[in-house]
Amino acid sequence: MCGIVGYAGGRQASEVILKGLQRLEYRGYDSAGMALLNDDLELIKVRGKVRDLADLAEKHDPHGTVGIGHTRWATHGEPNDVNAHPHTGTHRQFALVHNGIIENYNVIRQDLEKKGHTFTGETDTEVLAHLIEEIHEMSDIDFYQAVQQALLQVEGTYGIAIVHKYHPDRIIVARKGSPLLIGVGDGEYFVASDASPVIEYTHKVVYLEDEEIAVITRDGYEVSTLKNVRLTKEVHELAMNLEQIEKGGFPHFMLKEIFEQGDTIGDCMRGRLIVDENRIQLGGLDGYVDRLCDARRVIIAACGTSWHSGLVGEYLFEYLARIPVEVEYASEFRYREQLIDEQDVMIVISQSGETADTLAALREAKRRGALVLGICNVVGSTIARETDAGVYTHAGPEIGVASTKAFTAQVTVLTMMAMLAGRHRKVLSDELMRELVRELRDVPARVRAILEDTSGIEKVARMFTYAPNFLYLGRSYNFPVALEGALKLKEISYIHAEGYPAAEMKHGPIALIDEHMPVVVIAATDHTNEKVVSNIEEVKARKGRIIAISSNGQSDVARLAEFNLSIPEIHDCLSPLLAVIPLQLLSYHIAVNRKCHVDQPRNLAKSVTVE
Ligand code: F6R
Repeated sequence: MCGIVGYAGGRQASEVILKGLQRLEYRGYDSAGMALLNDDLELIKVRGKVRDLADLAEKHDPHGTVGIGHTRWATHGEPNDVNAHPHTGTHRQFALVHNGIIENYNVIRQDLEKKGHTFTGETDTEVLAHLIEEIHEMSDIDFYQAVQQALLQVEGTYGIAIVHKYHPDRIIVARKGSPLLIGVGDGEYFVASDASPVIEYTHKVVYLEDEEIAVITRDGYEVSTLKNVRLTKEVHELAMNLEQIEKGGFPHFMLKEIFEQGDTIGDCMRGRLIVDENRIQLGGLDGYVDRLCDARRVIIAACGTSWHSGLVGEYLFEYLARIPVEVEYASEFRYREQLIDEQDVMIVISQSGETADTLAALREAKRRGALVLGICNVVGSTIARETDAGVYTHAGPEIGVASTKAFTAQVTVLTMMAMLAGRHRKVLSDELMRELVRELRDVPARVRAILEDTSGIEKVARMFTYAPNFLYLGRSYNFPVALEGALKLKEISYIHAEGYPAAEMKHGPIALIDEHMPVVVIAATDHTNEKVVSNIEEVKARKGRIIAISSNGQSDVARLAEFNLSIPEIHDCLSPLLAVIPLQLLSYHIAVNRKCHVDQPRNLAKSVTVE
């Protein structure tokens, strides 16, 4: 949530910042701003998107080769010009941008008000700026030390960048709980919330850890702990490239990412699915497979779409590896009476690797002695670094706020993990293993086959563009897919949708069904097919509008449904990888028809780094 970019070098900082903020806009887009150092401290900020900031900047024609910028996702204080970052103290000598939440801001604010500080907005960030100012002005320590001291007094999370008009060559940055990295260029240095603003200029980055603070100039950077211990940081080489973070001819990132899935699922399996030898190899789990296989139970913790892939994982682990699994919302797990110890294994799943609740669940499980394995997409992210071991999904940068290719990559990793564990525990037969290895190998081609002709999906989208409600039903492996289909529709087209296990319908939701209700039924699993057909009959008897996702051979489903979107046949346990694709496309086209902002839906942000 919220994106930060900073630059110190030989270019016009505003250009680097605006371009960088555009790349970070998926993290928040309700207001934006920047501060530049020239003869003075120049501040420009506005409610709206980075495009609005760019328009404003054009009028101001800002100069300076050192500066910071921010794109906001509001937590404290409504999105408006005043609450937009950067924030300053009373004397406007420095400017600060912040990602995270200062939890004790109210107490600090009251104290500062008593000391004569006046606040212009409602943000916790402005309070931090005034606290730094107060400490600096009321003591004989320098500005850098004042920042250190202020950060030691605040509770909560922060990634911050600060420029000061009397130190026009430097940016001070610090992190606790909100990601920040330093881009190491040649005669120029960057700071950013993730690698996307930096990649155009350099592939070398340094990741800041919690409670670290750094000073960046055009000549280099120095990193210390908040308590002043100087650190030598490892410089990492980024594996991503610029093309991966651009739209590549698609109108939206979401559509590009849906269409990438034939490749991303293949990338995720490369070097891991060893077809000739009928085995799975997951290097990231080397040394940890025994502990996974001996686990009393596996607890999967995640949020949102990643939680849905965790639910698919539950079915997979139980079927293929015979290990009991519980799937927890990370946000619930972290505050529960946790009965987890060293006999358990936690798997955390996160596309961004920065989700605050998932990170908290991970830390709690580790504290209680459990082995924690990660499934992350963003290489070098906090969750990836803090887990004991794990498997990257290698789906490439996911920019569209609605998660698509990350879901299929996560399910692919979970499938491979469950197969590996099943073989290790000798509960997965040679024959089934051979069948699944072959089927998995063919998934990318089958995904491409679905994507080859999407006209049926577009037709259904046109038909139901203005439906006020949707019901999604699925069973077994495809119950989580029903939840995921409903989530996709809700978040990008703002249509109310609910996902249900198909058989649960008769315990309540069936009351909603009438001739206006579109009911999406995922009928792609063989072993529950007859039951799902009965569920479809029940909907039909009440005149519901049935949109079925069925496997090519399921003629009874095709006959009953008003619209039938068929997908290639595949083993039951792999069907979520195919069944989810038409649902992603359905929500995409409905959202486009409704003229919704597909890549940046209202109120959302890609990376949820606050509780
Ligand atoms: C839905 C979506 C969110 C995320 C959730 C977890 O399309 O994107 O529900 O899945 O915020 O994010 P990660 O996977 O980054 O932990």
